[in-house]
Amino acid sequence: MDRRNFNLALLAAGASAGFGARAVTSETDAFFSAFEAQRAGHPWTLGYVGLQADAEPMPLTLRGRMPRELRGAFYRNGPARHSLAGQRYHHWFDGDGMVQKYTLSDRGIVHQGRFVRTDKFLADSAAGRPVRVAFGTNPPGAEAPTSADSINVANTSMVHHGGELMALWEGGSATRIDPQTLATGGLKTWSPEYAGMAFSAHPRIEPDGTLWNFGVTGAQGLLSIYRVRASGELADAVTLKVPGIGMVHDFAVTQRHLVFLVPPLVFDRDRAAAGETFLASHVWKPQLGLRVMVLPKDRLDAPQWFDLPLGFVFHLGNACEDGGVIRLDYIRSVSAWNATNGLVELMKGRYALEKSSVALVEIDLKSGQARQSVLGHQAEFPRIDRRVTARPYAHVYTAARTGSGDRPGYDSVMRLDVTTGKVDRFQYGPDVMVEEHVFVPSRTGSGREGDGWLVGTALDLQRRQMLFSVFDARRLGDGPVAQGVMPRVMPLGLHAIFVAA
Ligand SMILES: [Fe+2]
Repeated sequence: MDRRNFNLALLAAGASAGFGARAVTSETDAFFSAFEAQRAGHPWTLGYVGLQADAEPMPLTLRGRMPRELRGAFYRNGPARHSLAGQRYHHWFDGDGMVQKYTLSDRGIVHQGRFVRTDKFLADSAAGRPVRVAFGTNPPGAEAPTSADSINVANTSMVHHGGELMALWEGGSATRIDPQTLATGGLKTWSPEYAGMAFSAHPRIEPDGTLWNFGVTGAQGLLSIYRVRASGELADAVTLKVPGIGMVHDFAVTQRHLVFLVPPLVFDRDRAAAGETFLASHVWKPQLGLRVMVLPKDRLDAPQWFDLPLGFVFHLGNACEDGGVIRLDYIRSVSAWNATNGLVELMKGRYALEKSSVALVEIDLKSGQARQSVLGHQAEFPRIDRRVTARPYAHVYTAARTGSGDRPGYDSVMRLDVTTGKVDRFQYGPDVMVEEHVFVPSRTGSGREGDGWLVGTALDLQRRQMLFSVFDARRLGDGPVAQGVMPRVMPLGLHAIFVAA
């Protein structure tokens, strides 16, 4: 489908959907007041208050010894403006994206954060209230979207590829970000035909620099696939019709295939037409199960389908294949509760999240069978040593829960060996909320998988400060080799990357 037809289809869906047509003034105010009422008794809400302004540069106080070879910038993206003029968004994924940067140099660590000046951010800011719809909120009197990018909040992840730094959402374009100043550049256009098309927040970059990504347009049941050369030039892009495709957030690649886990959360045009939000326009269809679609890289039009036990997934760690068997890991929850309800309750200051666990899958391409084992670890945000993307691998690094604290989020970081089941873990403590940590290969080490650093941030609720930690990725249990402390609270975010200097 070319761009003109796609945009016409989107506008038709938006118009018939009536996005923004239903005023929800009282409900919106109820979220704001509900959250405020919970704050005093629930310290964890600190991570979801949000910000109204950019965070000016601030140095961190350093403990321990920062590895000399670890120089560069750690970028994290995440929803950060959760309310505007007393209107609080109804879902954690709604807020405007802020790119945070921790710069690691010989002078220490300096942090700064800057909102992405998306079209939506600028329109809402100029009006002094939310005037565009969001993923899970139709603010009172909000405009219907004129394109996917008119509601793009660029709040989910970052990618550095082909010499460009970009903030990613999943429903529209990537947004260029200046790696030094964090100033917002223009929207990324991979080709004129694909301008404005969905480009997911989870591209996969193979060891040779090839970037693969996808984008879902659930209202039309379309899946776009992008292959981008290491130079940043689009090699090719195709759009496929995939029956029943809905909310797909991540995927994996092997040397020969792309692998999609397709949960049964499907866009329903009738719900959209009745004025529901984009999120509430999705329907859980358990009869579809959790389907696996495997696409040969050289025959994207020839999918092979497999079935897994019913479940929901946001993130995969990695995948590889050997002898006609694909092996992968993902973070599984039994339903889409967190996406549809748990992260809505969170915005009211209520903890009602379903646990998510690591699951390992083997897909036999010859027999057509898929096998799954679910491990006991409660985890999210799986990351790997990028040198083994799409290759045989052992280690997955995740945020993890070890305590049974009555609060959302994670208290630990974990390295799981998916070949042996062995775990190495560091527990920050019950009063620390752990964000995604990322693996940084050592420049001076052996070059083997796992030889490097695990770096990431966490919010210390008692001391009201952010921690930036560096671990030897081979010995997480020893605790951080270096840690920076910053006496201000940042909103808990989503995904991060490290760009070496
Ligand atoms: Fe994600």
